[in-house]
Amino acid sequence: MSIKPILFENGELLLLDQRVLPVEETWLRYTDYRKVAEAIRNMVVRGAPAIGVTAAFGAALGAREIAAPNFDAFFTEFEQVCALLAATRPTAVNLFWALERMKVCAQSHRALPLAELKERLLAEALEIAEDDELINRAMGGHGAALIPDGGRVLTHCNAGALATAGYGTALGVIRAAVEAGKKVAVLADETRPWLQGARLTAWELQRDNIPVTLICDNMAGYLMSQGEIDCVIVGADRIAANGDTANKIGTYTVAVLAKEHGLPFYVAAPTSTIDLSLTSGKLIPIEERDRREVTHSGERQLAPDGVAVRNPAFDVTPARLITAIITEHGVARGDFLTQLRQLCNQGG
Ligand code: MRU
Repeated sequence: MSIKPILFENGELLLLDQRVLPVEETWLRYTDYRKVAEAIRNMVVRGAPAIGVTAAFGAALGAREIAAPNFDAFFTEFEQVCALLAATRPTAVNLFWALERMKVCAQSHRALPLAELKERLLAEALEIAEDDELINRAMGGHGAALIPDGGRVLTHCNAGALATAGYGTALGVIRAAVEAGKKVAVLADETRPWLQGARLTAWELQRDNIPVTLICDNMAGYLMSQGEIDCVIVGADRIAANGDTANKIGTYTVAVLAKEHGLPFYVAAPTSTIDLSLTSGKLIPIEERDRREVTHSGERQLAPDGVAVRNPAFDVTPARLITAIITEHGVARGDFLTQLRQLCNQGG
């Protein structure tokens, strides 16, 4: 059983604090949606599907606080709750997708007494969380065939159980290949500056007894040149209609390296990560985070005072560098523009 980092118990949201893993396993409890928004911004929880699920629970907690005389007054305040949660992180589209689903749920149950509507919204958030794990397992089912038996697979960042409600996207495909009886060895890029690869991917794979070797981000090219990597698989934060894919900073570099070495480069993501409204990856908003994430490691200063710093949290890999995109409805290859639309439509 892979870890589930987001739970809802006895009226409280529980988040496994991803800032302190792997040294500490601390669960934080939330009843206030404003604090949930802070948790998303501060990376207590991170990963595109996980922040969508968390925001949905945040919206349900926010709805609980609203004391309004009728649906219209309720909905005005509910939209404000959702806006606050939406303003946390700009790149992963799952956040906006989940909040939109919560608003649609409220609208389509507008006739219910408000106390029942609030219960319905919580049920919707629970359903988003349950669906997410099922979707990841379906994605694993479609993607496992792409992972060769005995394969050495490079991944970047953490697109595992910790980045979702459970099982993971890219790591879900690897888990499914292992469950199908294949021998798979994972190479995990450490993923500066947040070290999701070192802290999270290495932790969750070790926990599930899947062989994992940690490397620094600048080692991937060398290992590819030595024939020590067979394919690459990553997750995604937002995929444009043409297949251009935003994912953790450094993903683009890995994709260029994979092309140079003739290695397949796979993206695994649910259709809720596909943003058909954007024609190209150039339109994906890229989050720029605090300079301190680059100049410091925890409390330790790594760079001189006042040095200029850039800290884009994501980059965009052009579709031409992507071999296939694995979703819960099937695998897109080649003509992403047509195939991604078809896969999204299969969701109903
Ligand atoms: O900044 P983060 O940790 O939220 O970034 C996460 C990533 O880039 C993941 O690779 C992506 O969300 C896919 S997670 C299934």
